[in-house]
Amino acid sequence: MIIIRTPREMREWALAQRQTGKTIGCVPTMGALHEGHASLMREAVAKNDVGVASLFVNPKQFAPHEDFGKYPRMFEADCAMAEQIGITAVYAPDVETMYPDGYQTYVTVEEVSQGLCGAARPHHFRGVTTVVTKLFNAMVPHRAYFGQKDAQQCAVIKRMARDLDMGIEIVEMPIVREADGLAMSSRNAYLSPEERQRALCLSRSLFRARDIMELGERNARKIIHAVREGMADVDIDYVELADADSLKPVEHVQGTIVLAAAAFLGKTRLIDNIKFEAK
Ligand code: PAF
Repeated sequence: MIIIRTPREMREWALAQRQTGKTIGCVPTMGALHEGHASLMREAVAKNDVGVASLFVNPKQFAPHEDFGKYPRMFEADCAMAEQIGITAVYAPDVETMYPDGYQTYVTVEEVSQGLCGAARPHHFRGVTTVVTKLFNAMVPHRAYFGQKDAQQCAVIKRMARDLDMGIEIVEMPIVREADGLAMSSRNAYLSPEERQRALCLSRSLFRARDIMELGERNARKIIHAVREGMADVDIDYVELADADSLKPVEHVQGTIVLAAAAFLGKTRLIDNIKFEAK
């Protein structure tokens, strides 16, 4: 496995792969890799000739009061996991290379970036879409793999890839959960044992809501109310039920919806969601 540090070298390497007829599957990450990332990398390796993963903690998607400084960084362990899975190249630029002095270009996806996490983190998705565009320009992938845990991020990136004619297939992979249901996240490392226990109410409430929908409940207000009741022990940021593509809130469950929740446990903000298809 090779480690590439600059956009020019990354792009040259990717274009050389493409010239020999190889397909490239990429997995953009901020490192601190866990089993969720592993599932994306395995799929990228299985469905493409070469798999490339990026490791870059992107300052542009954190607000000044957020956890950019303390975000876990574990480069050696991340590279070992990527190599063991069969990733061919890791792209790990530094901040100055990505955003040199004078940097001033941003990519914005308008509607889908608003609401849900976009309401509490107004500049977050602009940072994500900007860095993902830069990563795509360097890694020149045929396919890119993202996790459903960040459901709004997936919807925003799909919209961006469509709107900007990027010609990249965006693949959304299912959430990977701990045995007790907690969605895997690099931020779970911040939780105290007591917070970790309380955090289980997110997945449990969402699963209960899925049971209610399976029994035929279609009223969004009632479903959201049931989720909120189950999350009484945490500081709720939002619970929303929205169309899975547009992320516009719906009053009645029809087609494919996403039921998403965000909550604070101490200073740690966790998100989780389920998708449900009404027959
Ligand atoms: O999901 C993440 O880890 C990040 O938001 C991403 C897509 C790598 C962009 O920095």
